[in-house]
Amino acid sequence: VAEPGTGPANGPAAGRARTAIDLDEVPATLLWTLYHRAFEARRPDAVLHDPWAVELVDAIDYPFEELFGTAVGGRAQWQALRARTFDQQIRRFLLAHPDGTVVALGEGLETQFWRVDNGRVRWLTVDLPQALRLRARLLPSGERQRTAAGPAQDLRWMDEVEQSRAVLVTAQGLLMYLPPPQVRDLIAACAQRFTGASMLFDAVPHWFSRRTLAGTMRTEGGYRSPPMPWAMDADQQRRVRTAHPNIVEVRNLPMPRGRGGLFGVVLPLLAHVPVVGGKRLSVVLVGFGDGTALEK
Ligand SMILES: C[S@@+](CC[C@H](N)C(=O)[O-])C[C@H]1O[C@@H](n2cnc3c(N)ncnc32)[C@H](O)[C@@H]1O
Repeated sequence: VAEPGTGPANGPAAGRARTAIDLDEVPATLLWTLYHRAFEARRPDAVLHDPWAVELVDAIDYPFEELFGTAVGGRAQWQALRARTFDQQIRRFLLAHPDGTVVALGEGLETQFWRVDNGRVRWLTVDLPQALRLRARLLPSGERQRTAAGPAQDLRWMDEVEQSRAVLVTAQGLLMYLPPPQVRDLIAACAQRFTGASMLFDAVPHWFSRRTLAGTMRTEGGYRSPPMPWAMDADQQRRVRTAHPNIVEVRNLPMPRGRGGLFGVVLPLLAHVPVVGGKRLSVVLVGFGDGTALEK
């Protein structure tokens, strides 16, 4: 396996047999996001530079194209823009706290570390054991990267986070798969434990969640999205504040403009239209206070 910084030319696909996949339904969603990021990253005018994702898709023995399709340009650009929204916020965090810790809950085969690495960040990946085993087989791990195996709701991963460093907890493509009370408890637990920190996550709108629960989110190749029981419309974000008294800020982050009329013009404009704009997927930044509210 390549060392960090050697780049994908020596990465997981280089001269190796392709890696077979054995993942349950929800962990297998990491292949969906990976495939679409890589699909976009193969374009010369990609909105996300992600050579590791391309390497990973080439290294994995899985019927990506049959199941997910090949005419997926729109979905791929959208996934890439979503990832870029997270990247931008992580870079902002690292500008302010170059030695900070990023805790990536449900990281799957995200290759974000290599997209945002400033040479100093500490990175903790939290995911289910089967996803982490696959990650360990395919991706390098340097001395600033660690993992914690287990569900994010099992809070033992928090003991791995150094309290002396600034912390950003991310949950990219994770919370929608959890039962709603567990999402609230997880956000509240982070607010309680990581005073002064922030949390960044995405939320699917209710209409989208309903379609996954009805089992109608299918591709032509027969791939069906697992149920997403937790949803939050973009205009409901204020409710997050009620999860814990140490939550002092909740903010929707705008997605960067993409290519073409839809991603470059229509969707950025729609985000500002009342009602309709509130029904989109949102990326939400939650700020935690210094804990003084807890002492009152
Ligand atoms: C849709 S994938 C997202 C992967 C990655 N964050 C991305 O955006 O490409 C969902 C990820 O969440 C992980 N996951 C699912 N349930 C989890 C849980 N309870 N605790 C931690 N990780 C979980 C899965 O194993 C998978 O890696």
